[in-house]
Amino acid sequence: MSKQKNYDVLIIGSGGAGLSLALKLADHCQVAVLSKFALTEGSTFYAQGGISAVLDAQESSIESHIEDTLMSGVGLCDPDIVRLTVNYGKKSIDFLHQQGMEFTERKNKKGESELHLNQEGGHSERRIVHHADATGKELSLSLIAQAKQHPNIELLEHHNVVDLITTQKLGLSEQRVVGAYVLDTLNNQIKTMAANTVAIATGGASKVYLYTTNPQISTGDGIALAWRAGCRVANMEFMQFHPTCLYHPDARSFLISEAVRGEGAKLILPNGSPFMQNYDERAELAPRDIVARAIDHEIKKHGIDCVYLDISYKPADFIKSHFPSIYQQCLKFNIDITQSPIPVVPAAHYTCGGVMTDDYARTDISGLYALGEVAHTGLHGANRMASNSLLECLVFADRACEDILRRNLTQALPEIPDWDDSQVIESKEEIMIAHNWDEVRRFMWNYVGIVRTTQRLKRAARRLELLKSEIAEYYQNYRVSSDLLELRNLVIVADLIIQSALARKESRGLHYTLDYPELDNSQPAQNTIIQPLP
Ligand code: FAD
Ligand code: SIN
Repeated sequence: MSKQKNYDVLIIGSGGAGLSLALKLADHCQVAVLSKFALTEGSTFYAQGGISAVLDAQESSIESHIEDTLMSGVGLCDPDIVRLTVNYGKKSIDFLHQQGMEFTERKNKKGESELHLNQEGGHSERRIVHHADATGKELSLSLIAQAKQHPNIELLEHHNVVDLITTQKLGLSEQRVVGAYVLDTLNNQIKTMAANTVAIATGGASKVYLYTTNPQISTGDGIALAWRAGCRVANMEFMQFHPTCLYHPDARSFLISEAVRGEGAKLILPNGSPFMQNYDERAELAPRDIVARAIDHEIKKHGIDCVYLDISYKPADFIKSHFPSIYQQCLKFNIDITQSPIPVVPAAHYTCGGVMTDDYARTDISGLYALGEVAHTGLHGANRMASNSLLECLVFADRACEDILRRNLTQALPEIPDWDDSQVIESKEEIMIAHNWDEVRRFMWNYVGIVRTTQRLKRAARRLELLKSEIAEYYQNYRVSSDLLELRNLVIVADLIIQSALARKESRGLHYTLDYPELDNSQPAQNTIIQPLP
């Protein structure tokens, strides 16, 4: 009996992008939402600083958000996409209010309650709405609660997409998406999920680096899935490193929000002296690429393990009420941030490039959408401005929904052959997968990190060639596991990052190379577009 199950819309990912789209669509059609692990396990849940959104109707506020985003993106943002996104700010926050999300409020001078606004790097004004320092958790839990109640939404945890299915793969002439093969990891079974509309909302790829602020799921699966299916991918050289990840041997990936700097925290060396004023007149509030590079430079120059972020000069009550999660988390490691500075290092944080989409989140393949961190919409250019990504998730969920509802959702689905694993055997060498995982992440950190050279990039490319062929062979001969699927995707993403970095013969935004240290202003800035293999 065929294992095929048909849906109107299949959404891969249960973060801010995927769940917003599901909730927007669910009154009109049947939706399945897949997540690789638990529903909460994605970057959205860990977001801290907030969501940048202009809430007043003043044109100057809109123009200033647009201006700041364009400045951070260093000539590579698509101005139409920036304007579109910024204009959706209020609508996006209204949607979250409707889902029951709560935001931090403060009393204004007249004694009235209003939303408190954070400030972060690159923003010339306070415009970031937030829920204390745990905005993502509140957002995730609100959306999950709503989705669980909706009769038209089926939530499938522990379902890892192996590959997209397109008509071309089935030998049919026109090219459109018709579903995905999905590994149900609890039952160790590959299911055929058919849908004429598939949305990839799988988040970013920062796990490709050894040190990252991202959770386990961020292995760039969606980018690899779309690219293998025939979509173009853009600007993968622009991997963003967050300047301030907690540095402690027992702390894994804990972010110290940029909002801490927004409230006046200073970056200092072990001897207590500040240094950011030597790099940029905006000092601690310069865009992320500048701050992360400055810290990297200071760490290397002084041969130190980390620098420090000091907010301790502010009143303890202020710190505890503004940053309750950060305060508590640091205390677990015996760091009382009201008394002493926080040891911090930069870590891979955000994938600015991704699957190329248009202003309705449509990819190169009919019926296939990409939204959230997996997508390259043109919003972020060469460096995403802080707190613009949750906004992008919400805006493009709305745009994709509008377009999906214009489609013929009752179009017949072809019969899809079940996944054939009759020729493969059980793997006896899971350790090889673990070693390869470690190897990729280590050489990406060492050779394709904050500061690059052509020689280092080429060295990484050579290492990757060997791994690519080993993994392809492994995939062909052994039964798939979640770790193998992730490794296969991670290696594709690493390859796309290295290819893109080698192609850019200048330094711009997040891509900095010692061989071409200057911005090339001799011609208009170009996106780096990688075509899929034929
Ligand atoms: P995610 O939230 O990462 O969700 C991805 C989903 O895809 C998950 O459900 C995952 O299980 C699923 N998935 C992945 N691969 C597969 C697969 N193969 N099969 C099935 N499912 C799959 N941005 C801001 O704007 N403001 C902030 O304050 C902020 N703070 C941040 C703090 C941290 C620590 C981090 C890591 C990021 C932060 N960001 C912030 C960035 C922002 O959180 C993310 O860009 C955004 O949440 C991405 O949402 P998403 O829905 O695209 O993906
Ligand atoms: C932070 O709170 O510093 C993260 C904000 C972001 O990545 O947008």
